[in-house]
Amino acid sequence: MRICVVGAGYVGLTTAAALADFGHEVQCVDMKQAKIDSLTQGKVPIYEPGLERLIRRNLEKDKLRFSSNVSESIRDYPIILIAVGTPSREDGSSNLNYINQVINIIASNINNYKIIITKSTVPPGTNEWIYQMLVEIGIEEDLFDIVSNPEFLREGTALWDIFHPNKLVFGTRTDRPIEVLKKLYEGEKVPYIFTSLTGAELIKYASNAFLATKISFANEMARICDVYEVDYLDIYKGLATDPRIGRYFLNAGLGFGGSCLPKDLSSLKHSAISRNVETKLLDAVMEINDTQIELYLNKLSTALPSLENKQVTVWGVTFKSGTDDLRSSPALALIKRLVQKGCRVHSYDPMVQLELPDVSSYVNQYESVVGSDVLIIATEWNQFQKCNWSEVKSRMKGSIILDARNCIDGKTVRRHGLLYLGVGKR
Ligand SMILES: NC(=O)c1ccc[n+]([C@@H]2O[C@H](COP(=O)([O-])OP(=O)(O)OC[C@H]3O[C@@H](n4cnc5c(N)ncnc54)[C@H](O)[C@@H]3O)[C@@H](O)[C@H]2O)c1
Repeated sequence: MRICVVGAGYVGLTTAAALADFGHEVQCVDMKQAKIDSLTQGKVPIYEPGLERLIRRNLEKDKLRFSSNVSESIRDYPIILIAVGTPSREDGSSNLNYINQVINIIASNINNYKIIITKSTVPPGTNEWIYQMLVEIGIEEDLFDIVSNPEFLREGTALWDIFHPNKLVFGTRTDRPIEVLKKLYEGEKVPYIFTSLTGAELIKYASNAFLATKISFANEMARICDVYEVDYLDIYKGLATDPRIGRYFLNAGLGFGGSCLPKDLSSLKHSAISRNVETKLLDAVMEINDTQIELYLNKLSTALPSLENKQVTVWGVTFKSGTDDLRSSPALALIKRLVQKGCRVHSYDPMVQLELPDVSSYVNQYESVVGSDVLIIATEWNQFQKCNWSEVKSRMKGSIILDARNCIDGKTVRRHGLLYLGVGKR
């Protein structure tokens, strides 16, 4: 099949490369010329394990092409897959400007039957609205089908997720595109869920809202464990072994961030309220998440009452390990809060060199702690869990290790003469 993927970001690039690998002829387009130039040379502007290799392989086989000519590509390809960003507006609703731009380009370039697939996460009702908009512009209904096909990949394991999905969700208005859709992800032996356009949109929001709820639940449990001097990890084991609960998204720590969970929760809340549905559970999930940074700073104050003029090293700046994505990163928010409190902040991340005023960014993990009063683990990169604590101890001025991701073995840290702090962590 011939597919045009619009948007060469985390989702668009991964999807385009995977579809090309399935044997389809894929053109991935983006409005950013510099991005397309580097992709055409096989250079991937984001970090996603294995993606560069997959892109190069399919460029060589001529199964994958890149272009910045969005209109021409949309004209040429019968299947259009939209993977542009849908960021939050100030009021929490989704900004659909990029989607709108693409739909307008489609409307002016549609010359034969096209299947228009929205992969971007969009609020309930958006795909119905796209359909109505195209009809109102005067596009014949016979010329297109709209499909909602939300994406569930996780950054850092995006390729694994796309080649081993646990389900494929398609929302359609009619049965007409279904046979084509079944061939899109050829060979995937997983449940196919066919529903309405709005049903598919809500499956995506419900999934992210549930995952965020698990994280805030874990964080509330860790707060309770903390005052009862119980290790939350024991509670975690008790929860994770129960198949009704599952083991994922139950880690306590700084809370959830990234480009999806916070924005999708806000957008879902906005959609619910706009139809007079109260969102008490979502509100609580967000409130817990929004107070995690202060919770960890309060924990730190039990050992260091004032942070003024203290040197604090933060390990990990991305929103989670395995990615270079800084969007809504709790670690970054923590760093900004430390600067506000008058700290001299040092940062180290295996993927990202921060360029922020008042923050000194290091390329070496151990050099970043030289002379520091405190070390905070803000992202659960493997190399932090396996770090050489004698080296850390000998280079730091102070001895406080704040484990804001519940990922470090406290006993090992203490054995090296350091003070270990965590929330619900012994
Ligand atoms: N990142 C994730 O882990 C993830 C997972 C599941 C779903 N999603 C959803 O997928 C969508 C895309 O997310 P992302 O992280 O890939 O975004 P991104 O910001 O990384 O990429 C979006 C790309 O679209 C391009 N673009 C915007 N408007 C365009 C236009 N008119 N024509 C051509 N290109 C255009 C941008 O230049 C950018 O390169 C969002 O709705 C997001 O919520 C993201």
